[in-house]
Amino acid sequence: MTAWSRGRRSVGQTIALVPTMGCLHAGHLSLVREAERRADLVVVSIFVNPSQFGPDEDYDRYPRTFNEDRQALENIGAAVLFAPEADKMYSAGFQSTVCISRVSQGLCGAARPGHFDGVATVVAKLFNIVVPHIAIFGEKDFQQLAVIRAMVRDLNFDLEVVGHPIVREDDGLAMSSRNRYLNRAERKSALCLSGALQNARRQVQDGERDCRNILRSIHAFWAVDPQIMVDYAKIVDDITLVEHETVAESSILVMAVKIGQTLLIDNGHLLPAT
Ligand code: PAJ
Repeated sequence: MTAWSRGRRSVGQTIALVPTMGCLHAGHLSLVREAERRADLVVVSIFVNPSQFGPDEDYDRYPRTFNEDRQALENIGAAVLFAPEADKMYSAGFQSTVCISRVSQGLCGAARPGHFDGVATVVAKLFNIVVPHIAIFGEKDFQQLAVIRAMVRDLNFDLEVVGHPIVREDDGLAMSSRNRYLNRAERKSALCLSGALQNARRQVQDGERDCRNILRSIHAFWAVDPQIMVDYAKIVDDITLVEHETVAESSILVMAVKIGQTLLIDNGHLLPAT
């Protein structure tokens, strides 16, 4: 992989990397199209990274649809599919961890200790192996994007990180490889996330600026559905992820709920950018 990248770079071609864990959906493919717009060549990695799953999480049952993924990427013309084996990425004696301390704590990091260390470590490896000029990540995983941005800045990775907007189903549900775990009733309940975001934006449009009032309405909206187990709903700064008391342009509503066995996340800014 590295030899190919160095060869393309030496003749002046630019490379964009889209890291994924496979089970590709329209959200992933929209990142690939963005990558195609921004660089001469696109590398998509598919690697279900064991080090970012906790012991009670879904590593073993995470959906693996390699043949369909390869076909989808061929159809939209990605140049290279990089799909390493787990024992090549983590060979015997592997002992390094990249830890981006502050932004990895809280939110999803609270319920998933070590998750963002696993993400940062594998993404650092992918950056070193693929040597891309740019790397594209979805805003759906907002905390992940903040962790990667901090890592690239702090550790001087020589590449540009690009965030891409959330791609949603027609009814508003953010696309996710984990949506396929949901049964019909759970799928309906899952709309509580995009619904909460819409309600919060409406409140802000009507003049509400107190974050506590907005969060109170969200919890009241969710309380009527017993299927929803709330992990968190917070309004935070879009760079530092520190909580806001008053809504500002940089305020982002971040949410995680468990529906049945499935952890779902969503987020969005509350005020339009000016
Ligand atoms: P995965 O969940 O497969 O997601 C790969 C990329 O697709 C991430 O950047 C994610 O934010 C983006 N993505 C997923 N759903 C999206 C949606 N509905 N709209 C826009 N973008 C979306 O995130 C990971 O894999 C892993 O943690 C990884 C970065 C590959 C490291 O292992």
